[in-house]
Amino acid sequence: MASSSATTLKPAISAAGLSKSYGDKVVLDGIDLRIPEGSIFALLGPNGAGKTTTVNILSTLIPADAGQAHVAGHDVAREGDAVRAAIGVTGQFSAVDNLLTAEENLLLMADLNHLPRREGRRRTADLLGRFDLTESARKPVVTFSGGMRRKLDLAMTLVGDPRIIFLDEPTTGLDPRSRRIMWEIIRSLVADGVTIFLTTQYLEEADQLADRIAVLDHGKLVAEGTAEELKRRIPGGHIRLRFADVSTLESAAALFGSVTSDRDELTLNIPSDGGVPALRSVLDVLDGASIEAEALTVHTPDLDDVFLTLTGHPRSGDDAPAQKESIR
Ligand SMILES: Nc1ncnc2c1ncn2[C@@H]1O[C@H](COP(=O)(O)OP(=O)(O)OP(=O)(O)O)[C@@H](O)[C@H]1O
Ligand SMILES: [Mg+2]
Repeated sequence: MASSSATTLKPAISAAGLSKSYGDKVVLDGIDLRIPEGSIFALLGPNGAGKTTTVNILSTLIPADAGQAHVAGHDVAREGDAVRAAIGVTGQFSAVDNLLTAEENLLLMADLNHLPRREGRRRTADLLGRFDLTESARKPVVTFSGGMRRKLDLAMTLVGDPRIIFLDEPTTGLDPRSRRIMWEIIRSLVADGVTIFLTTQYLEEADQLADRIAVLDHGKLVAEGTAEELKRRIPGGHIRLRFADVSTLESAAALFGSVTSDRDELTLNIPSDGGVPALRSVLDVLDGASIEAEALTVHTPDLDDVFLTLTGHPRSGDDAPAQKESIR
């Protein structure tokens, strides 16, 4: 992650009052952004929230209906060429040519970027190595797995050496290992001073990568801050106990003050910071009453809870990563 001093730098991307509608459907309803150079910004939202629309406006693919945006110091509406020269975009859907090999795709990008032939070859070889694609360089992309294709997609964006990169859901559909590799690549870009604007549906991804996170819901940013700041805005964690039967559950519930219990799951949730002293006191109370719990889990608030609290509904998508519950 970039240092917090990044917030004092001039913004790489800024926007004020960005709005966009399709017919009478309001997609963006006044978005304000300020993203410092050399930082990672994550725009988080469920399907249809307007993430791709935001990327498309900032990367000059579509015009906004209202509001202003500047990227690399240029107005996206009036200085599109200058903006496009400064940015790289890895879209939500792969831009690679399936019939070409990985190497040919990269060389094509080098040509499109007007790199001299020799420089294009050097850059291509370098990127193939960096993305662990050297062995597959001469294979047609149609034979690639989703993860390889995603890596090639990003490599193609990097051919032009952009200082500002938009990544629209860079890891959707990747397995955990490929996701981690992608995260490492993104981190290394930022270490080189590149600014990253990424969209994601994965709260964990935003938590892992981003200096700042904004949550987009129904066309508005419903929250913006660091992962820590967002986590602080939500109710605390809890200790969850599971019992063998309903009568044990009820005896235990009577021992604690404000608890919620679930008779179907046979669980009791006790609000707690999840620290060791709190755990010990819960166990002492149970011991004192000779009640045994079958299982104990500590739930610390994560970004899933943030989303639920801020938007009043869970984030959609059935590929959501499992909630973080740690068993102690
Ligand atoms: N060209 C278009 N014409 C009409 N409606 C559109 C168009 N492009 C996007 N929309 C609508 O705008 C809304 C936001 O779409 P967008 O693609 O920005 O969402 P998203 O957050 O990227 O979603 P996802 O997570 O599924 O990629 C959706 O309701 C979509 O149907
Ligand atoms: Mg999208």
